[in-house]
Amino acid sequence: MSYSTTAIAHPNVALIKYWGKSNLTENIPSTPSISITLSKLETKTTIVEDDFDTIWINQKKINDEKILRFLSQIREKTGIATIKIETENNFPTGSGLASSASGFAALATALNQHFSLGFTQSELSTIARKGSASSARSIFGGIVSLQGPSWKARSIEQDGEWPLRIIIAKTSSERKEISSSEGMKLTRETSPFYQPWVKEAQKDFDDCLSAIKNQDFEKLADLSEKSCLKMIGTMLSTSPSLIYWNPTTLACVHAIKKMRTAGKAVFFTTDAGPQIKAICTSESAEEVTKSLSNIVGPTNIIDCEIGGDARIV
Ligand code: DP6
Repeated sequence: MSYSTTAIAHPNVALIKYWGKSNLTENIPSTPSISITLSKLETKTTIVEDDFDTIWINQKKINDEKILRFLSQIREKTGIATIKIETENNFPTGSGLASSASGFAALATALNQHFSLGFTQSELSTIARKGSASSARSIFGGIVSLQGPSWKARSIEQDGEWPLRIIIAKTSSERKEISSSEGMKLTRETSPFYQPWVKEAQKDFDDCLSAIKNQDFEKLADLSEKSCLKMIGTMLSTSPSLIYWNPTTLACVHAIKKMRTAGKAVFFTTDAGPQIKAICTSESAEEVTKSLSNIVGPTNIIDCEIGGDARIV
């Protein structure tokens, strides 16, 4: 009799960004990164053995080359059977809210349990990374780093240790036209700012680690905004240019800058999409929510805390 296994993983938002790869086969980033795992948003993935590999996302059957390739890589190593994958995201898929991060983390976690593969969390992060590098970080809750030479993610601060809030302002629910993988390939090939971006990344990463260790919010804010804007700079200077922001994204950036200048503990970040993520302390959360609600409307605000590990349910 065939039984099913279900896992949940949360997306994450990078403070120090990964943008660019140094090894395509192993999917190794060219920059180290640091992220926060998000509570509330989640990917729930159920797998069951079947005659073929099939993939259903939000009840729609899809043909996803990246997921199929990921399955064959694992199959080569472990001999797992073919499966039906059913995935539900409780947030828009492919619109810059890191659905591939939580997606591959949930899938790797479900496979590990279902086929009794016996991988540790650290090994699972290496496996998930091959599907999508940001998903290596979604294996863990808290604040998470991903750096060489092992390129295994690890939790550097558990949830609850530094009670930050992540307030997301959804400025669009559309799927992005150019995926992160495609976008970063174009950036590496064409942006004149790509080399300086890679060169400065390690220092930003190291400085950010010490800001987190000291719970220095101002320093974390400076470094995170700088990493985001440097990444956006490489995107804008890519040919053809990658413009993921929309006018509402920019309006939110200005609103957050204004609050920060007025002394509120808040900063912004964005990824390969138009959604704004405002990171703040709990004391600032009410004002940040109010200000961003005025721009995107209260139904487009998602107020998250720091989320936990990927897990079996
Ligand atoms: C902008 O992890 O989605 O969100 O490894 O090709 O699947 P692949 O890329 P992905 O890229 C994430 C890029 C980012 C920044 C980040 O999360 O660090």
